[in-house]
Amino acid sequence: MHRSIYCGAISRDNLDEDITVCGWVDRRRDHGGVIFIDLRDRKGIVQVVFDGDAGDYFVRADRVRSEYVLQVTGKVRARTPETVNPQMSTGEVEIYGVSLEILNRSETPPFQLDEHVTVGEEIRLKYRYVDLRRPEMQKALFLRSKVTHCIRNYLGHHDFLDIETPIMTRATPEGARDYLIPSRTYPGQFFAMPQSPQLFKQMLMVAGCDRYYQIAKCFRDEDLRADRQPEFTQIDVEASFVDELDVMSFSEEMIKEIFSKHMAVDLGVFPKISYAEAIERFGSDKPDLRIPLELVEIKDLLIDIEFRVFSVPANDPDSRIAALKVPRGAHMSRKNIDEYTEFVGIYGAKGLAWIKINSVNHGINGLQSPIIKFLGEKVTLAIMERVSVEDGDIVFFGADKSSIVSEALGALRNRIGRDYNLYSCCWAPVWVVDFPMFEKSDGGGLSALHHPFTAPVCSVDQLIDAPHDALSRAYDIVLNGFELGGGSIRIHDPVMQAAVFEVLGISYKEQRDKFGFLLDALKFGAPPHGGIAFGLDRLLMLMLGAESIRDVIAFPKTQTASCLLTDAPSSVETKQLRELGVRPHKVGGKVLD
Ligand code: AMO
Ligand code: AMP
Repeated sequence: MHRSIYCGAISRDNLDEDITVCGWVDRRRDHGGVIFIDLRDRKGIVQVVFDGDAGDYFVRADRVRSEYVLQVTGKVRARTPETVNPQMSTGEVEIYGVSLEILNRSETPPFQLDEHVTVGEEIRLKYRYVDLRRPEMQKALFLRSKVTHCIRNYLGHHDFLDIETPIMTRATPEGARDYLIPSRTYPGQFFAMPQSPQLFKQMLMVAGCDRYYQIAKCFRDEDLRADRQPEFTQIDVEASFVDELDVMSFSEEMIKEIFSKHMAVDLGVFPKISYAEAIERFGSDKPDLRIPLELVEIKDLLIDIEFRVFSVPANDPDSRIAALKVPRGAHMSRKNIDEYTEFVGIYGAKGLAWIKINSVNHGINGLQSPIIKFLGEKVTLAIMERVSVEDGDIVFFGADKSSIVSEALGALRNRIGRDYNLYSCCWAPVWVVDFPMFEKSDGGGLSALHHPFTAPVCSVDQLIDAPHDALSRAYDIVLNGFELGGGSIRIHDPVMQAAVFEVLGISYKEQRDKFGFLLDALKFGAPPHGGIAFGLDRLLMLMLGAESIRDVIAFPKTQTASCLLTDAPSSVETKQLRELGVRPHKVGGKVLD
């Protein structure tokens, strides 16, 4: 089949050329004696004009409908000045059609391509192949391909080897539920799909591969959000004989290169902040540094007051009391504030106290608030001084267990930043470092904040003595409030690895059962090593300003982890289940036996 140029690539440079294009009918307009067809392909849309001189082809042009597939031959000509369309990249030219083949017809599409906003995502996902024809989706797939190409180039040039690791494997320890695959040859036994290639990449370091990368599919059965999919892609990297600074430095350079090549953006040098500082100042370990608002600790000022909402947390070591000042926010209405109070409730906050500053010069009389009467003048003014208020500001307060206050005010900070468009720049990357090794788990024990193969900063003895104080050699890269990637220097000493498992309450038997192969590998000359993994989907979501990672994945799953296009997951034949030695416990929500 002959095609001389893409529709979207035609420009004034092609004037007077005889060309052939192939594509889909975006729109057809009949202007009585003249038919205009907007023909679309991967690169864009061009206008084709047929008039009576085209004879039979004019009749054919009259018959085409939306999404028909055409091959058109014609001559490129300039549009008259009044018909130039500056919205289209090909808007200065059009094709004067000479012949037209209908390569295929189309039923009326389930939605017009420009109606995607009103039709809802379900229809878009069910007819994804139609949805993907839209220029924004083509742009997303195009950029995704360019970015992975750029990553392969960058890592290839830096001596990283692209090595595939298995999809059918054992459970990996990233903390989500596993997707399982029943084994036919070992009835009653299961493979797990990898939550990440973590253990394999570490074993590749033991194997002497020195530098590995993979653009790897990962599978996690967890609660989904706009930035989470059950099946997603990591840019997974590992290197031997490196420390944190090495990994952070090549990672930063790679992300900078992607942004400079594909967004014409210089991200500058990424600042680093510690986990503790991130929580204290921004209430989050993934702070959006575009927003110039900070939490200020005021616990020490409230120890002696009578107002129990504040005095109880002020005297509890596990609690915090923080203020969040919004400059020039005093205009917020009662309704606004009530909305924010409801919003912080999602994070467990029991209320949202506030003070509006009408006039600093008028002292206590220049303030407006439901809590001043409980705080008293001295304490109120001390707080105002601590947060450096000015006329027209509003200050919000959170008082509760530290994690609730940080999460609630951290989320409020993001929400206010978005609601009032307070962003001070377009891109704010930041490294978060010095994470604690462990956090309290729901069951009362400890769990690994990153994963259990992350090296601590301290010795084995110090780790056993004071696990709560241990910091890890982990680092996260955060962009505009999203965790873009995370990694760590790993444990390469089997004694340290066993100590970490001990702190986590993983018995020797469980260690052997789950990770025996890794513990064995560490005994056979494991080099010091470390790495990182980036969420490719999140990176693209941010680059494209998309609302969800579903918009940058060709065939994503829904929020409830199903594929509307293929209707997966689906039931299978009893025979197949019998072969696998599997008997469902529930069918369609109904419990069997
Ligand atoms: P982690 O679990 O932090 O680390 O994952 C690394 C990055 O992967 C992305 N990500 C996701 N993206 C979409 N949907 C999901 N469900 C999802 N889960 C994670 C995030 C995240 O920062 N093995 C370690 C890495 C290492 O230590 O080298 C790991 O998987 O952008
Ligand atoms: P109350 O005495 O419960 O009516 O609360 C007085 C003010 O304090 C109201 O503005 C509440 O929204 C606010 N408030 C109550 N509990 C908290 C809390 N834990 N943190 C911050 N503000 C609170």
